[in-house]
Amino acid sequence: MSDSASYLPDHPPVNDWVNDFDHTDPKWTEDPFPIWDELRAASPVVHTGRFLGCYMPTTYQAVKEISYDTEHFSSRRVIVRDIRPEITARSPPITSDPPEHKPAKQLLLPPFTPDAMKKLEPRVRAICNELIDEFIADGKCDAAARYTKHIPVRAIAHMLGINEKDGDLFVKWIHGILELGIKDDNALMEAVREMSAFFAGHIEQRKQNPKDDLITTLMNAKGPNGQPLDDAHVLGSLRLLLIAGIDTTWSAIGSSLWHLARTPSDRERLVREPELIPTAVEEFLRAYSPVTMAREVMKDTTISGCPVKKNNMVLLSFPAANRDPAMFPDADKVVIDRKENRHAAFGLGIHRCVGSNLARMEMIVAIEEWLKRIPDFRLDPAGKVTWSEGTVRGPRQLPVLFGKAS
Ligand code: HEM
Repeated sequence: MSDSASYLPDHPPVNDWVNDFDHTDPKWTEDPFPIWDELRAASPVVHTGRFLGCYMPTTYQAVKEISYDTEHFSSRRVIVRDIRPEITARSPPITSDPPEHKPAKQLLLPPFTPDAMKKLEPRVRAICNELIDEFIADGKCDAAARYTKHIPVRAIAHMLGINEKDGDLFVKWIHGILELGIKDDNALMEAVREMSAFFAGHIEQRKQNPKDDLITTLMNAKGPNGQPLDDAHVLGSLRLLLIAGIDTTWSAIGSSLWHLARTPSDRERLVREPELIPTAVEEFLRAYSPVTMAREVMKDTTISGCPVKKNNMVLLSFPAANRDPAMFPDADKVVIDRKENRHAAFGLGIHRCVGSNLARMEMIVAIEEWLKRIPDFRLDPAGKVTWSEGTVRGPRQLPVLFGKAS
């Protein structure tokens, strides 16, 4: 359970998951998989009166129908929250609908090509080893606090041209926006304000002294009208890259290590056959997908035969889609050499993830470097694994012991 569970007074515990689901309930946070199975068995689309009215598609097919239907389902709100305040801060392209979406997305694609990732890979490998150097002699660590958390923060800071050590600030803002912000508007606004002020400073600096980094690239990019982007657009894109790129990847690496800590046969196989790691990473992405998004229903429609009414939100659970047995045989098993794996962890349709090449590279490198130096490890029975709640799910405390169990 995450520390934001203390914000729960107006969230009574759930007694009827099918008609009254709540994705911030501690039971969901701890172990959502049986809950999704129950919902899927009841209907391809379920509804809750919480969050001012919200649907959840439970099958791969229903998630796909909604993802591809930008006419009825808007991205102007992408987090299911208790309140629906006026929309002030936008983060194109993730909060954009057509026709604004496409040009905003195209601006962000060039820095994340596979070739660009190849150039970044040695730095990410070095970051992983610098982190391992700090705790390996202790024979144990909290792998979330000491390892998984820092890899995406430092990688994106490196790309942006910002001091890698400023990562702690990024983590605090993201927690305020994605977790506390579900129920606490002040926490959300404060995080957005601080983050915007930080980047506004960096933009000003680069107006005087342009650098060879992602912030400068965005400042020089031309918008759809052929004019350079205004500062607000650059700021929105930078905010989005941090929000979208950090705790997503941190969570995905963490869930992978959590699985390997509890599954010696898979761990030993990956140590013996490191060439299987990229295939295993796809399976970890499927089975422990971290990202659940949202849409707002703009017009009444039907999804997989179920009526869907406007003014409700939609909890768009790519993770639940990835556990649908109609799409994936043995959906509840983690099969690290799964052959056919068209998972939806990076989304479906026009909003598919911009950073998937970066995320995959970071996951592969983080697991490779960890297994090279710590081939044997297990959960520390004296500690407790905790999971984040809400939009992004992953371990936030992951205490592990190194070496073979005696
Ligand atoms: C394992 C890690 C990651 C996962 C599972 C993930 C997942 C997702 C998903 C599901 C979406 C679709 C959102 C929607 O449909 O509303 C998305 C969009 C996006 N992601 Fe990722 N992401 C990851 C890492 C990253 C990274 C590293 C970056 C960049 C630094 C990034 C940048 C973006 C952006 C900019 C979008 C918006 C794309 C659009 O609206 O067209 N993501 N991501």
